[in-house]
Amino acid sequence: MSSVTPSESAAGQLGAAALPIGVFHSGVGGLTVLRALREALPGESFVYLGDTARLPYGTKSPGTITRYALGAAGALVERGIKLLVVACNTVSAVAIDELQAALPGLPVVGVVEPGAQAAVLASGSGRIAVIGTESTIRGGAYTRAITALRPDAVVSGRACPLFVALAEEGWIEGPIPEAVAREYLTSLVADVDTLVLGCTHFPLLVGAIRRIVGPELAIVDSAATTAAAVASLLHLHGMLGPSAPPRCIMLATDGRERFARVGSGFLGLPLSAEAIEIVDL
Ligand code: DGL
Repeated sequence: MSSVTPSESAAGQLGAAALPIGVFHSGVGGLTVLRALREALPGESFVYLGDTARLPYGTKSPGTITRYALGAAGALVERGIKLLVVACNTVSAVAIDELQAALPGLPVVGVVEPGAQAAVLASGSGRIAVIGTESTIRGGAYTRAITALRPDAVVSGRACPLFVALAEEGWIEGPIPEAVAREYLTSLVADVDTLVLGCTHFPLLVGAIRRIVGPELAIVDSAATTAAAVASLLHLHGMLGPSAPPRCIMLATDGRERFARVGSGFLGLPLSAEAIEIVDL
């Protein structure tokens, strides 16, 4: 496992603006966040790491998730990054403080707070439902982040682990995802006006989810608000990239063919298996 020391931290070094943004996820789900980042910041380069060998994180204990996240962050820092985006709700919910403490001087942006902001902006009544992995929901990070912004909000949550498997399989439309969505969501959304997709896999299933929850409910996820938060941090720190041709490097810990096949749908662009580098954490 790579360790992270302050001297390895890339931010603050001369020329940091030219470094790529590191994006980390347990697998391909964070490519939905990378997609929004690339749209918001077309001049930036990115290095994305999907820990496909150890996915799913969402069913694991906080200690294991934190250990995995520190190892993955260390691998990205060793390559040289100017900012780390934790494009995984599970890691953001469980290990963001440990990551920030391990990476002094490197801006670390998680997806939970931007997701909470999107929810509070979308909700009129303050009655908000959040869906995510077991770990994200169990830890209550979304409830804390939403009520910090809107103290009178009433937040309910439900773990929907089968959605991760369906998205990974590309099984995102038709009677099976709709049946799963009906089972998970019907009672959860009965009395709310906003549903937060608190897992980066779930935007792939938004069509099936929308058919079950109906047209009135606001459905939000954190991709666009995370991209906006990253853009304003880079601006604030004077670290927007130079106008060199941007690059996007893809790293995974296992299965480059599967990463390319499934990841293309998440990123909205074709990915070639040969372009994916396999790394050992
Ligand atoms: N997509 C991840 C998230 O945002 C969860 C996937 C996993 O269980 O590893 O929480």
